[in-house]
Amino acid sequence: MSELTEREEFAQAVIDGLSAPKKTLPCRYFYDARGSELFEAITELPEYYPTRTEMALLQARASEIAARAPRGAVLVEFGSGSSRKTEILLAAMQGLAAYVPIDVSGAALDEAATRLRQRFPALRILPVTGDFGAPLHLPSDIAQAPRIGFFPGSTIGNFEPDAARDLLAGMRKQLAGGSLIIGVDLRKDLSVLLPAYNDAAGVTADFNLNLLVRINRELGGTFDLRAFRHEAVWNEADSRIEMHLVSRKSQDVAAAGRTFHFTEGEHIHTENSCKYDLGAFAQLAGQAGWRVARVWTDPQGWFSLQELDAA
Ligand code: SAH
Ligand code: AVI
Repeated sequence: MSELTEREEFAQAVIDGLSAPKKTLPCRYFYDARGSELFEAITELPEYYPTRTEMALLQARASEIAARAPRGAVLVEFGSGSSRKTEILLAAMQGLAAYVPIDVSGAALDEAATRLRQRFPALRILPVTGDFGAPLHLPSDIAQAPRIGFFPGSTIGNFEPDAARDLLAGMRKQLAGGSLIIGVDLRKDLSVLLPAYNDAAGVTADFNLNLLVRINRELGGTFDLRAFRHEAVWNEADSRIEMHLVSRKSQDVAAAGRTFHFTEGEHIHTENSCKYDLGAFAQLAGQAGWRVARVWTDPQGWFSLQELDAA
């Protein structure tokens, strides 16, 4: 059977998710061009602590990380987005054979590659548009080069534990013995966590609702944005922030050639953002064949940058 196109995959995901007894949509579809822009705006919000905290950790540790990177290595980044954080690492790393940013957002990749080619004209940049869980095919002249992985932003937190373990195990294979530098967000007081996902300016709400805008545009959807509201809640049992879109009324909505009924107050669960403690993450990484070699955290213990080595 021929492979599904991106649009067909999106349509299938929407049909499956909105037909389920508890409606869901996969968070990877947040990132069309507008979604990537909104995510960048989130990273600058006063309430959204992860980006600036991880950036500060990278600024402080980039030379230490770079010193451990083998010469002639390929730096592979999973979910690179704007590559702003990578810029800090690239400035500290000498003699990389290539930088391979992987992202589902072609718009974010194009913009980042253009900027990085200007700043690092000697660096070979090989962007890959697609799912970072898919096997990686590098050009034959660098296929055997040592690899280093970079997976910042706590994007790992957007996967439920089983999927996160499988993803980390897949990355271990893709990196062929190389280590993985990963950002992992940590459990903290709800007075910090909740506003980070429900900011006063409403940017996170727009980011969440943009998924419906994308369905309307790409899949002939009839979602009325005013008829849904953003909600972010803490789920203690699963140690995660959940984002939902809540129907403000009883309504029928068409999308992807189907009609879906919503009762008043019914939720579409759009994202999980798991928050770990260091022990729980080390256990998860261990199950995926990784050993935590180093952990760096900020003074408040809000976010961690970790080096995982193949166990
Ligand atoms: N690394 C950046 C961006 C994090 S936002 C940072 O730390 O700020 C998450 C990024 O991962 C987005 O750019 C999104 O487009 C990408 N992404 C999400 N799911 C993906 C998937 N399954 N495959 C590839 N990229 C994905
Ligand atoms: C990309 N990811 C780790 C972000 C997060 O914090 O879970 C996405 C995001 N969702 C709402 N705000 C930001």
